Amino acid sequence: VSGPLPAEVPPAPDRVVVGLPAPERPYEVRVERGALGAVGEVLGDRVRVAVVSQAPVADHHARAVLDALGGRGRLFLIGDGEAAKSLATVEDLCRRFVRAGLARADAVVALGGGVVGDVAGFTAAVYHRGVDVVQCPTSLLAMVDAAIGGKTAVNLPEGKNLVGAFHQPLCVLADPDTLATLPAAEVRCGLGEVAKYACIAAAEGDPFGIAAAVAAQAEELRRGDPEALTDVVRRAAAMKAAVVAADPRETSGRRAVLNLGHTLGHALEAHSRFALTHGEAVAIGLVFALELAAALGRIDSDQARAGRAVVAALGLPERLPSGPAPAAGELVELMRRDKKAAGGLTFVLPGPDGIGRVEDPPPEALAAAFAAVGVEPPGTGA
Ligand SMILES: NC(=O)c1ccc[n+]([C@@H]2O[C@H](COP(=O)([O-])OP(=O)(O)OC[C@H]3O[C@@H](n4cnc5c(N)ncnc54)[C@H](O)[C@@H]3O)[C@@H](O)[C@H]2O)c1
Repeated sequence: VSGPLPAEVPPAPDRVVVGLPAPERPYEVRVERGALGAVGEVLGDRVRVAVVSQAPVADHHARAVLDALGGRGRLFLIGDGEAAKSLATVEDLCRRFVRAGLARADAVVALGGGVVGDVAGFTAAVYHRGVDVVQCPTSLLAMVDAAIGGKTAVNLPEGKNLVGAFHQPLCVLADPDTLATLPAAEVRCGLGEVAKYACIAAAEGDPFGIAAAVAAQAEELRRGDPEALTDVVRRAAAMKAAVVAADPRETSGRRAVLNLGHTLGHALEAHSRFALTHGEAVAIGLVFALELAAALGRIDSDQARAGRAVVAALGLPERLPSGPAPAAGELVELMRRDKKAAGGLTFVLPGPDGIGRVEDPPPEALAAAFAAVGVEPPGTGA
């Protein structure tokens, strides 16, 4: 599928504004080389700036941020992975902020992937009842998704993202050069979200050219080509910005489109005890959602096939690996427990009018979609 971008594809914007209504402030998302160097200008005359990061990120990229802050910045490292996304980390950071003299009028910079963005963002939301935060995403997933939109959260032993707040950043500064040090497995993880945007866009007339750009540059994206990644990050960021502006607090339902592929994706991740990565689980979840939409007559089978082709072209799995497959019944139970499901089975699926919510689809449609991704149909297994 790879080739030059078709002429009708709009250019990828290097800066977009998340147009939030009052009392929130609109803010800019910049995706450009050297963006980290703008952090000093964005933070104006703030006296102290806490730069929250992780060792593998800070080793390569903290210098650019600290230099741009010209002596006002101080680095605060946190641990890696979901275990670090905890209230204990938040408390520890708050205590270190107090000892460093961070005041209400000062600011936090989140320099890292989604874990740093969530922890630093939530800590900024609650420290002194809220200090400003600048999101500087350094992973593909954080650039296209987590850093934009103001959702922040940490985990409890009972589940992921159960304690959080909406806290919109002052600005999002994404420097695509930082992706050069991102491990290949993490690039692949972000490609799962890129596939999601391409599938959403394909169902909505592709206003940002992301479906066309992903199809044309899939091979380059797979290889981690910097230009292709920059192009697609810009388009995905523009799309996320538009969705967030239309539904800043997830009240109108618009923001739920971003959950395409995630209902089954989360269940597969949990069932595999995270042996499947988020990107792989979302990819299989996308194929499931498209096949479910086709089984319900919401889209035709060509559209489902096109979505599968995107997933495959990005080198992501279209179905579960061979081996003992989870039974559909177990996955349905996990999906019902999803915090967004409120007890029923809720999916967001493409249809004739774009992406929409579908509650409790009939068992035959579910069985067809499960079979398409290599899950034993309901009524068999445990
Ligand atoms: N708030 C939201 O709206 C939102 C949306 C989606 C996901 N999330 C959250 O994001 C998290 C996942 O984020 P992620 O995929 O970025 O994982 P992550 O933050 O754990 O980063 C993955 C790994 O890559 C390292 N890393 C990041 N950037 C690097 C770079 N440029 N060079 C070298 N190493 C680098 C990190 O240190 C980490 O080890 C999850 O906790 C998820 O819940 C939040």
